[in-house]
Amino acid sequence: MSKIFKDKNILIGISGGIAAYKSADLTSRLIKLGANIKIIMTANATKLIQPLTFQSLTGNPVYVDTFQSTERWDIEHIALAKWADIFVIAPATANVIGKAASGIADDLLTTTILATEAKTLFAPAMNTVMYQKQIVQDNINKLKNLGYAFIPPGRGRLACGDWGEGKLADVDVIIQHIESHLYSSKDMEGLRVLVTAGPTRESIDPVRYITNRSSGKMGYAIAEACIQRGAVVDLVTGPTSLQAPAGANVFPVESAMDMYQTVLKLYDKADIVFKSAAVADYRIKEMASNKIKKGQDSITLELVRNPDILMELGKRKTKQILVGFAAETEELEKHALKKLNRKNLDFILGNDVSTKESGFQSDANQGILFSKDGSTISIPLMTKKEFAHRIIDEVMKKVKFD
Ligand code: PMT
Repeated sequence: MSKIFKDKNILIGISGGIAAYKSADLTSRLIKLGANIKIIMTANATKLIQPLTFQSLTGNPVYVDTFQSTERWDIEHIALAKWADIFVIAPATANVIGKAASGIADDLLTTTILATEAKTLFAPAMNTVMYQKQIVQDNINKLKNLGYAFIPPGRGRLACGDWGEGKLADVDVIIQHIESHLYSSKDMEGLRVLVTAGPTRESIDPVRYITNRSSGKMGYAIAEACIQRGAVVDLVTGPTSLQAPAGANVFPVESAMDMYQTVLKLYDKADIVFKSAAVADYRIKEMASNKIKKGQDSITLELVRNPDILMELGKRKTKQILVGFAAETEELEKHALKKLNRKNLDFILGNDVSTKESGFQSDANQGILFSKDGSTISIPLMTKKEFAHRIIDEVMKKVKFD
């Protein structure tokens, strides 16, 4: 598992919302990702979940606002405030948000919010009516204007039984926000990036299709990395089971023809295109309108060529930087360079898919990035997230944008 938060000090503030139990999952996930975690709980939060849970997960004392140890309290809030690389309040109740917006510091959590210089993120969780109340929204906007970040709540069934906005954001989404704030080199600010990801599906009949083994992980990792670095991202994705990165403009497509049309519509606005999708080269000549019945011993499916989307982008290129992918099991350099030239690309990532650890479906990848200027960078096996950043680092080093 990737240790993306290795040596990072993450302070989690837990206030008294029913979603406090989800902070245990958040804590456990962050620890697995390598983070050092310390926890502050409000007195109300301890009524909903035991501090012992967090003490056991983190191996650290849990700082609870009991007012019993007033002598140490002053020291603690400064020490914690200085220790943190990032401070995440999850769940953040209307009460804590209101106090922070008014500069009130009447317990350890709110005092630490005031005392820290670390980036502070609020993940609100409350009843929909409360969340939408003008006073709460005013407090949120006031804090945003002061530089505090917010992780928008999700929609769904709330603990009170109501449906609507106000659920604590998914743990995955909270982690993405933490990552993006911790590693916020915003070198892609002002750029619009088009990413394609996943497989395409070519229908045979209403219930059957031809596809490939792409999971979409590589493309989604690129989209996420570009968002972290400040880009606006259009993600054109074939069918996957992945959750789209927070903040991406998602365009779901099914077949290569769908992808072709969607990509061409978005292309003019793009500054960079990462074409990591595994597009079917052929489709069924004529899709059967009804389910094909078994009867004959053998049947023949006639396939016709799909348009080569990347080749078309190469022909229509104006300002765009085109980064293609080539999944290869042999003669990686030869095949990748052929595609680089034939498709008029700026870069191609020769993706070594000869082993199980990299390429299709795996969480890791390895390959060689070839540039049209003749240079090559070998990228060893690493998580797809790290791999995405390595490719982007190289592209951003070589390319000058107006
Ligand atoms: O999704 P994952 O499970 O994480 O796996 C990632 C991946 C292995 C799919 C990805 O890293 C990768 O290598 N994608 C390219 C797959 C491939 O083999 O492409 P290709 O050699 O068929 O095509 C070369 C390039 O042309 C690719 O950028 C492709 O998107 C593009 N292409 C291909 C055919 C076509 N009709 N239109 C295209 O645009």
